Amino acid sequence: MNSSPSSASLAELDTTKLPAHIAIIMDGNGRWAKKRLLNRVSGHEKGSDAVRTVVRACREIGVSYLTLYAFSTENWQRPRFEVEALMSLLKRFLESEQNEMVENNIRLRVIGQVDRLPEKVQEALHQTMKATRDNTAMTLILALSYGGRAEIVRMVQEVANKIRHGEVDPDSITAEMVADHLYTRDIPDPDLLIRTSGEMRVSNFLLWQIAYTEIFVTPTLWPDFNRDELLQILKDYQSRERRFGQV
Ligand code: IPE
Ligand code: IPE
Ligand code: MG
Repeated sequence: MNSSPSSASLAELDTTKLPAHIAIIMDGNGRWAKKRLLNRVSGHEKGSDAVRTVVRACREIGVSYLTLYAFSTENWQRPRFEVEALMSLLKRFLESEQNEMVENNIRLRVIGQVDRLPEKVQEALHQTMKATRDNTAMTLILALSYGGRAEIVRMVQEVANKIRHGEVDPDSITAEMVADHLYTRDIPDPDLLIRTSGEMRVSNFLLWQIAYTEIFVTPTLWPDFNRDELLQILKDYQSRERRFGQV
């Protein structure tokens, strides 16, 4: 297949400079639907097809960790109808993708307040996590009922409890210890954060973990995001110089 001049191909990427961890704020489903005079739920449905495409592409490219912001702690305040539709879509997604994840050696993990999710969704999550737990090629991390502030509050509570029980000396607290008490313990920080639909904000996503992450915002609405655009972003990422505060 020939690619257009503006598109990037996998062969153009430097395989030694791939991001190990890509995190995505999948935004713009509602606007995608509105533009077509459809209801917001149709946008979420189309968005879940884009999730499939991007998971496949990341696995093919050789990304080790992919974190997808699927539902924030603030998203609970959306109309009940929309929240319920998102939850049932999530359940359907897990059920339809489990086999492919097993076949493609993808492990599923979840970050966020899993206990706030409907029982049926929790069951589907546990089932898929169990079925994929020994997989090693890529870890797909779904951020569900996730909020960076809630994650930090939870970390402070855990560490404070250890201090109370005499297990931790406050003077010995390090950045590593903080990271070890976040949902993302044993997951490296994202190298690249992508946000679709043009909004220049982080919306409470991975606040601690994105300290030195490269950020890429695209105007594309999430349901229109595809493999080609991901490759273009990766090409741009590889042209950037990451300095981590040094010279
Ligand atoms: C992102 O799309 C999906 C979720 C937050 C669950 P939105 O639903 O936020 O779409 P817009 O921002 O209204 O277009
Ligand atoms: C961020 O998108 C959350 C997810 C993508 C799950 P939102 O649409 O909820 O964020 P805001 O409202 O634009 O900040
Ligand atoms: Mg939005």
